[in-house]
Amino acid sequence: MNQPLAGKRIVGNWKMNGDLAANAQLLRALVDGLQQAPTSHVGVCVPAPYLSQAAQLLAGSPVCWGAQDVSAHASGAYTGEVSAHMLRDFGVRFVLVGHSERRQHHAESDALVATKAQQALAAGITPIICVGETLQEREAGLTESVVRRQLAAVIHANGACTSEVWVAYEPVWAIGTGHTATPEQAQQVHAVLRAQLRAAVDRADRVPLLYGGSMNASNAAALLEQADIDGGLVGGASLKGADFLSIIASANNAAATY
Ligand code: 13P
Repeated sequence: MNQPLAGKRIVGNWKMNGDLAANAQLLRALVDGLQQAPTSHVGVCVPAPYLSQAAQLLAGSPVCWGAQDVSAHASGAYTGEVSAHMLRDFGVRFVLVGHSERRQHHAESDALVATKAQQALAAGITPIICVGETLQEREAGLTESVVRRQLAAVIHANGACTSEVWVAYEPVWAIGTGHTATPEQAQQVHAVLRAQLRAAVDRADRVPLLYGGSMNASNAAALLEQADIDGGLVGGASLKGADFLSIIASANNAAATY
């Protein structure tokens, strides 16, 4: 399912932002700005009610669309939940799983995240597994053990299928704060994740490793140049067409030197 690792991946996470009018403007700006197919793979993860709008406006464009969460259950009495099968009906290419905001505000455990990844994979949707440490964990020297534990749960539950996931390293202290990890800090953790995947999974090098956390038009190029940073998961800057396009342009430049 994953393409071989060529080009970078730039995925926007709109979080709980947008409305029909603003989305249409943003998506049109994106499609217009990408008249020529970008070297990089581009996508946006929109709130579930807007998946059909994204499908309509992005069909036939170089931009894929995704969701921000998926149920751990296939169907049934789970009020408010959205299944992977339902996402599939809207042409969803990928889904964020285990974003730190869900781990934090919805008490999502490593095991639940792993089950959600399983549901997505079974429906042919690529789960983007989000991992990352809090500031306290970093300051306590726990960064490596936290991200390894979070990824291990996914590997344990999904075995060989883990080669079909994407992983996003998003240090919690860098999300929405303007405090981006330095390229060296991010690369260091990506190298840990890469080594963990290589040790556990065949074809581990198919798994793109994205960085997320205050990525913007100014810092994207330096981050995307790092050996083990295959792309970016972009929050705030993905809501501004010009900024997101500028990040994509940085990714295209970085991809050209791949
Ligand atoms: P920001 O880019 O706004 O820091 O958000 C990052 C993020 O959480 C993407 O999933």
